[in-house]
Amino acid sequence: MMAQYLEVKAQHPDALLFYRMGDFYELFFDDAVAAAQALDIALTKRGKHEDQDIPMCGVPHHAAEGYLLTLIRKGFRVAIAEQMETPEQAKKRGYKAVVQRDVVRLVTPGTLTEDALLDARRHNYLAAYAELRDDAALAWADISTGQIRVMPLSRARLGPELARLTPRELLVNDAKAEDIRPIAEDMGAALTTLAPSSFDSQAAEARLCALYKVASLDGFGQFTRAERAALGALVDYLDLTQRGKLPLLQPPQRDHAEALVQIDSATRRNLELTQSLSGARDGALIHAIDRTVTAAGARLLERRLSSPSRHLDTILARQSAVTHLRTAARLRSDLRAALKTVPDLDRALSRLALDRAGPRDMAAIRNALTAAQTIAAQLDTPDMPPLLAQAATALTGHDTLRDALDTALVADPPLLARDGGFIAPGHDADLDEARQLRDEGRSVIARMQADYAQDTGIASLKIKHNNVLGYFIEVTATHAEKMLARGERYIHRQTTANQVRFTTVDLSEMETRILNAGARALEIEKQHFNELRRAILEHAAPLAQTARALAEIDLAAALAEIAQTGDWCAPTLDTSRAFTITGGRHPVVEAALTRAGQPFIANDCDLSATDTAAIWLLTGPNMAGKSTFLRQNALIAILAQMGAHVPASKAHIGLVSQVFSRVGASDDLARGRSTFMVEMVETAAILNQADDRALVILDEIGRGTATYDGLSIAWATLEHLHDINRSRALFATHYHEMTALAGRLAGVENATVTVKEWNGDVIFLHEVKRGAADRSYGVQVARLAGLPDAVITRAREVLSALEQGNTGTNPKTMIDDLPLFSAARAPQPATKPDPAREELARINPDELSPREALDALYRLKALSTP
Ligand SMILES: Nc1ncnc2c1ncn2[C@@H]1O[C@H](COP(=O)(O)OP(=O)(O)OP(=O)(O)O)[C@@H](O)[C@H]1O
Ligand SMILES: [Mg+2]
Repeated sequence: MMAQYLEVKAQHPDALLFYRMGDFYELFFDDAVAAAQALDIALTKRGKHEDQDIPMCGVPHHAAEGYLLTLIRKGFRVAIAEQMETPEQAKKRGYKAVVQRDVVRLVTPGTLTEDALLDARRHNYLAAYAELRDDAALAWADISTGQIRVMPLSRARLGPELARLTPRELLVNDAKAEDIRPIAEDMGAALTTLAPSSFDSQAAEARLCALYKVASLDGFGQFTRAERAALGALVDYLDLTQRGKLPLLQPPQRDHAEALVQIDSATRRNLELTQSLSGARDGALIHAIDRTVTAAGARLLERRLSSPSRHLDTILARQSAVTHLRTAARLRSDLRAALKTVPDLDRALSRLALDRAGPRDMAAIRNALTAAQTIAAQLDTPDMPPLLAQAATALTGHDTLRDALDTALVADPPLLARDGGFIAPGHDADLDEARQLRDEGRSVIARMQADYAQDTGIASLKIKHNNVLGYFIEVTATHAEKMLARGERYIHRQTTANQVRFTTVDLSEMETRILNAGARALEIEKQHFNELRRAILEHAAPLAQTARALAEIDLAAALAEIAQTGDWCAPTLDTSRAFTITGGRHPVVEAALTRAGQPFIANDCDLSATDTAAIWLLTGPNMAGKSTFLRQNALIAILAQMGAHVPASKAHIGLVSQVFSRVGASDDLARGRSTFMVEMVETAAILNQADDRALVILDEIGRGTATYDGLSIAWATLEHLHDINRSRALFATHYHEMTALAGRLAGVENATVTVKEWNGDVIFLHEVKRGAADRSYGVQVARLAGLPDAVITRAREVLSALEQGNTGTNPKTMIDDLPLFSAARAPQPATKPDPAREELARINPDELSPREALDALYRLKALSTP
C-alpha cells in the first residue's frame, strides 16, 4: 500500500494528498505533519518506511469539507485520491491485491465548487496571465458559475486588474513566475505556475475548440494570441484539477478596459469599495448598499461596483431600470418576494456539469424556473424599460424542462443521489412497483414473525436484521432445544452467549426479494437522475441566461430599494465635464452615524469644468470631515457610473474615466516600503496617468515628511494636477499656506469645513463652505482625544510661540526662550505596569491553537486576580 501511496504522491508533490482509506482520508509523511498543524488534529504514526516511523493523520470522509476549507484558506492545495474499487473487487484480482486508488480531483483556491467552500455572495475567480513576446492578456473564470472572460493588457495593468477582480488563484508561466509573484501576493492571490506548454497559443486554440465543440474560435470574437494562450492555460488547468471533467463554461467574452472606469488597487483599498481596510466586507461600501436578495444578485453587485462603466448608453439603460423599479413600489416588492425563493442556479448548474451534483441541485433548478415564471409574469407590462423587458424574455422558454423536473422530483429531495428517495411516487410505474415490493416485504416479515411465534409456541421469538446475517429468527438460549428439534423447518445459523439464531427457506426468499426490490428501486432512480441531468445540461446555455437575467432584475430592484429607503437621487449623466453634487452624503459614514442616532450633514461639491482643471483645495480642522467629504464624492461618481442612484439630493456628472484616491502617509511595512515612499510612489502614479476626465482625490499628500518638504511637494503636485493633468480633483491639506494658490491658478478654489470655537473647545459643524480655514485646531482635537492636560498646556505654549515666530523672530531662538521642562511642572501620577495587560500584548491570537488559547486565558485570569 505504501508503494501505491508513494507513486500517487510523486505525481502531486506540491499538494497535500488526501488518501482514502475506508471512512477516512489519511495523510502521511510531511503532508501529515503540515496538515496536523494546520488543522490542529492529532499526529500519529503508522508503520515504518526505511526504518523510520511514518507520521500520519486523518480526517473522517464525511466531515472532509470543513477540513478542506481550512487548508485552502491557509494556502494549501489538496489532491484527493479515492478508492476506485471496493475491497471485494480487489480481492477478486488476487489475495494480496491493494485497492486501486487514483486522484480524482485537485482542490485549489481557484477551483472550488462546493457551497460549503464558497462564499455565496462573492465570485471565486481563477485567473491566468499570459505574456508572449509583444502581447499579454489576462483570462479569468468562476468555475462555480461558468463565467469566463479575457482581456488584453500590459504587465503594468496587471496589478490594477487583479485588484478589480480579486482572483483567489493566478496561473502564470513557470518562466515568468518570479516577476509576477510580488504582484499576485500583493493582491492576495495564490500563485500557481504551469509549464510553458500550458500557455502555448496554438495548443490553446485546439483545447478551446474541443471544449466548445467548434471548428474555430472566430464565432466568439477575434482573440489575440496572448488571449488565446491565457484562455488555453485556464482550460488546461481545469482539465488537470478536475481530472478530465470540465465545468460548464460559457463562451469567453472580452472585457474592454476602455469601457470601464479605471480604478487602481490603492484607490480601491482607500475607497473601501468591496472590502474595508481591514479586509472585511463589513464597513465597505458594498456592505452598506447591498439590498440584493439572491446570491447571484450580490455577485453581480460586486462585479458592477468593481467595474463601473464608462459607456453612457449602458449606464443610462441600467439607471432607467432602477428608476422604474423605484417608482413602481408595488412591483418592486412583488419581485423581491419572488426573488427570495430563487436558489443559486449558476452554482447548481456548474455542479451538475462536474458530476458533483445531487438531487437537491436539480430541485434548485426546478424552483428557480418556477420563480422565474412568476417573475416574468410580473414584468409583463407594456411600459417596461428595455433592460428589464429583455431580462423578462430570458426568463421564459423552459416549460418542458420545468415540467420534467416538476413531475419527476419530490418536493424536498435528499442531498445525495445514492440514497434514493428523490423521484416522486407515481412518476414511474416500475419504480413504484419496486418500492412497493421493498416496503411490503418489510410488513410481510412482520407477519412471518407472528406465524413463527405461533408455530413454535415461543412468544418472545423475534425476526431481526444485521449486515452479516441479513434477516434471521432469534430466540433466547432457553428455547434452543425446542427450535433445534424442528430442524426440518428452522435452519440453525448461529449460537451466541444468550441467543440462538435460525432462518427458514421462506425468510431467505423474502429477504432476497426485498434486497432485489430495493436495489432495483435505486437503480431506476439513478437512471432518472442521469436522464434529468442530461436534459438540464442540454439546456445549459438558456439556463445560464436565465440566471443572468434573474441577477440583473435582483440588482435593479435592490438598487431601487436602497435609493428609495436612503433618499437617493437619479444622477444626470452626460459627456460634459460637469461635477455638481448637491446635498451629497457618504453612505457608510451616514449608516454608522444613523445607528448611533446622529445626523449626517449633507454637503455640496462643484468641480464643473470646461477646458481647465477644476480643483477644490480643502482646508479645515482635524476631525471636521475633510476625508469623509473627499471620499463621498468619489463614491457618488462610482455609484452613478455603475447605473445606481446616488446618495445626494441632486447630481450632475460628466462621465469619469479614471478615479484616483490617495491618502498621505499610510504605512505599508508589509511591503517593505516606508510610509513616505509609498505615498510618493502612489502620487507619481496619479500624476503620470490622470487625464482630463479623471476624478482625483488627494488627502493630505505630503504629510509624511518634514513640514517644508511636504508643503513643497503638495504645492508642486497641485500645480501639476492643475496645469498638466487638468483633472477634476479634491485636495485636502493642513498646509494653510497653499490656500494662496487659489488666487494664482484659475481652476483652483478654496473650500473649508466649518467649526465653531467655544470656550476653548471646538464644535464640529461638518459643513463644507467656500473659503479657507485659518487654522487646524489640532491642539483642541488632541485634548478631546484625552492627551494629558500637561501636554496640552505645553503644546499651546509651543504653538503660540511658533505662530509668533512665523511673523518675524527666528523660530529657533524663540523655542529656546520657552520655559524648560514645563511638563515636569505638572507631573502625571505614574501608572504601574499591569502584568495582565503586558501578557495580553504579547499574545498573538493568529498563532494560537484552541488549546493554547485556553491556556493563555487561564494565565491572564491568574495575572489579573490579585
Ligand atoms: N458630513 C458629516 N456629518 C456628520 N459627521 C461627519 C461628517 N463628516 C465627518 N463626520 C464625522 O467626523 C469624523 C471625522 O471625519 P474625517 O475623518 O473626515 O475628518 P478629517 O477632517 O479628515 O480629519 P483629519 O484632518 O484628522 O484627517 C467622522 O468619523 C465622522 O464621524
Ligand atoms: Mg482626514
